[in-house]
Amino acid sequence: MFINEELKTFQKYRPKSRKLWETAIKVLPGGISHNIRTFGLPLIGAFPVFIKSASGPYLIDIDSNRYIDCWNGHFAMILGHNPIEIQKVIKEHLIYGWHFGTNTEYQVKLADTIIQGNPGVEKIRFCVTGTEATMYASRLARAFTKRRLIAKAQLGWHGANDTLYYDVGSLAGGEVSPGLLNAEQSGVITFEINNEKTFDVIKRNSDNLAAIILEPVLGGGGGFTVELEFLKRLREETERYGILLIFDEVITGYRFNNALFQNELKVIPDLTTMGKIIGGGMPIGAVGGQKEIIEQSSPEVENQVLIGGGTFSGYPLSMIAGLKTLEILKNSHQEYVRINQEGDKLLNNLNHFFKEERLPIIAKGHKSIIMLHLLSKWIEQPSIREIIEFKDKKREALLQLSLFNRNISGLHGLGSISMAHTHENVIQIQKVVEEIAYPVSQSILN
Ligand SMILES: Cc1ncc(COP(=O)(O)O)c(C=O)c1O
Repeated sequence: MFINEELKTFQKYRPKSRKLWETAIKVLPGGISHNIRTFGLPLIGAFPVFIKSASGPYLIDIDSNRYIDCWNGHFAMILGHNPIEIQKVIKEHLIYGWHFGTNTEYQVKLADTIIQGNPGVEKIRFCVTGTEATMYASRLARAFTKRRLIAKAQLGWHGANDTLYYDVGSLAGGEVSPGLLNAEQSGVITFEINNEKTFDVIKRNSDNLAAIILEPVLGGGGGFTVELEFLKRLREETERYGILLIFDEVITGYRFNNALFQNELKVIPDLTTMGKIIGGGMPIGAVGGQKEIIEQSSPEVENQVLIGGGTFSGYPLSMIAGLKTLEILKNSHQEYVRINQEGDKLLNNLNHFFKEERLPIIAKGHKSIIMLHLLSKWIEQPSIREIIEFKDKKREALLQLSLFNRNISGLHGLGSISMAHTHENVIQIQKVVEEIAYPVSQSILN
């Protein structure tokens, strides 16, 4: 059987990862430090690989297997892994020390660079993660509007903070994690993207709504794009009712061109959360937006909104790596065009193939973002609702495993194309996905 052969091959070439996993599950809950880093593999009796190094488009695991990596450090590594220019500036600065717990010129320069390139960002506060950034943005919105409710997109992933951890992997009414207050107690309501009914929800709650938060492309949710008309309507309706609009651009910021995605969309929110790429692969989060809203967090202000905090906020190496990355991206127009086209082509080619072969797989994404969903049955052009309802997690795990066996690493199916991927890499990714699509989707799994 396909799955048995795949499991045998996987284990044969990964004895060190297997051994380490045995210790990992004893000392770390579930063996990992981020839920999705199991790659779902324990579901089918396998284990995740452990990585020892990375370079350009490749990851190398502790058994010396090399993978074309599509996960790219949770989308942060748009230049690919270990780019020499970033490595160089980190090394250069490392000798002066790496954590001062005070101010550096680099945080001023990084803030200035982002502000210069994005009219929607007049001021910025840096933190360490996107999780903090979205929590702070919600707090700022509640303080500014003096209203209680935050509306978040169903399936939207804004990090694991208590404020926004509702309907993350699900549409309406998903289970609330033990340990969290329910959504009503927390002052959160959720809405469906690209759905007219959302505007009724907004209208109904308009007196109490402080903010609406969503990603312009749902990343962790599965690569679902938000229609431009929907975003424009959201902007109109939020303005009408005095609700703040927050774009979570932790993934989309600097992903499709050298700026936040909002500029290309021509929909400018009141607040924007950022992370990942702007830290050049070092830990970062940021919340930016209209001066008068962000300024509430200034210690100069009476009744300051407390948004940190953070021993490592404005971490020097993150600021330095981020600055250098944005400097490179400023001169990377051709590379953006290239990876956007590669992503578009890969998505279209794969969907064409899945459709022709009537395979229950669908690729979702936008430009260089590409994710795969495996369903338990064939549906022609499934809706988001159908994709979630008929998601086959075991088959998705088998897909990841079969990709690893053919030297490709990805998550959510694949993930993204980076500037280090060559055209040949992308052709190889397509070839491998097409090769395994049939056996993976037809496999009998218990
Ligand atoms: C859109 C979005 N917002 C927020 C976050 C949380 O960021 P972090 O993992 O840095 O806390 C993520 C992380 O994947 C994300 O994709």
